[in-house]
Amino acid sequence: MNYTEHYSVLNKESIDYLFQDFEEDEKLLFSDFTFGAGGHTFALLNKNNKSRVISFDQDPEALENGRNRIQNEKMSERCFLVDSNFENFETVVNENFKELVEECCGFNGVIMDLGVSSHHFDSGERGFSFRVDAPLDMRMDVDNDNIKTARDIINDYSEYELGKIIRDYGEEKFYKRIVRNIVAKRSVAPIETTVELAELIRESYPAKLRYGKIHPATKTFQALRIEVNRELEVLEKVLDQIVPFLKMHGKIVVISFHSLEDRIVKQVFNKLAAREDVLFEVLTKKPVIPSKEEIDENSRSRSAKLRVIKRVEQKRSKNKYAQFSKIDR
Ligand SMILES: C[S@@+](CC[C@H](N)C(=O)[O-])C[C@H]1O[C@@H](n2cnc3c(N)ncnc32)[C@H](O)[C@@H]1O
Repeated sequence: MNYTEHYSVLNKESIDYLFQDFEEDEKLLFSDFTFGAGGHTFALLNKNNKSRVISFDQDPEALENGRNRIQNEKMSERCFLVDSNFENFETVVNENFKELVEECCGFNGVIMDLGVSSHHFDSGERGFSFRVDAPLDMRMDVDNDNIKTARDIINDYSEYELGKIIRDYGEEKFYKRIVRNIVAKRSVAPIETTVELAELIRESYPAKLRYGKIHPATKTFQALRIEVNRELEVLEKVLDQIVPFLKMHGKIVVISFHSLEDRIVKQVFNKLAAREDVLFEVLTKKPVIPSKEEIDENSRSRSAKLRVIKRVEQKRSKNKYAQFSKIDR
């Protein structure tokens, strides 16, 4: 299947934040942790013909499509696509891009547009969607045999472990009924496909809720995807890694799609903002969300939340009257 078009969520807002505070003629260096179809990367490259971007993806189809696009658009001098989980940012930069980073005196910004892309849902055979019957896989890094697939999790995890991930990562209130039915079914034969699992989940829901607007399997599928790809763990782990590489006024921009991710981003940003060795300021007291027009154009953007933190020389005082009270004394 060809790589699906992907609508880049909150594209203008993210790019505006990333370029804020920098001069046109500076040697700008960015990292896009989630290349996908390249929407944000190319927006960074096209906004300024001196900007360079080190982009990551772990999905072989996104990488192949990306390499072709970079070549077709003659961007190989300015765009470096890395086949790796972004959790390896520090190692990848130190081993492969040390000179470039030194030449640019660090990164002007980093962007993460978390989760999977439209391509993952649209190419049914990857097992992310219950709309197409396919093996339960859900690995973004589909060539990596060391990663447990959704099938392994459904069939091998204990009843307790399964309940925990469906409850915590899916925020699914019927998790006990779902897990009970999974355990009963797999004791007869392994559960192999997306539709098989989705139908079992539907049957686990109370009868009056089985045919609502949102498929009952949505939350459990989200939970499995998060567990397979360790989505929360890598996010939490990587944010601190960026700090030593960030230039003064450099930003970290994160777009998240569910409350679990957004909570981590908010907490880590607050921790960074409390540091005294390197100073940071959160630019988005409340997350930026897509406009009504964007949601009308791309309904998948409806749950997006964008948060930004910036490296600063000096923090603005929390108390706007502080300077006057000093004079008074
Ligand atoms: C939402 S899409 C990004 C779309 C992109 N911003 C665009 O505008 O086209 C997320 C992409 O990041 C990749 N991805 C997600 N988590 C990753 C991780 N931990 N390491 C590397 N790539 C990751 C996925 O494979 C997917 O292609």
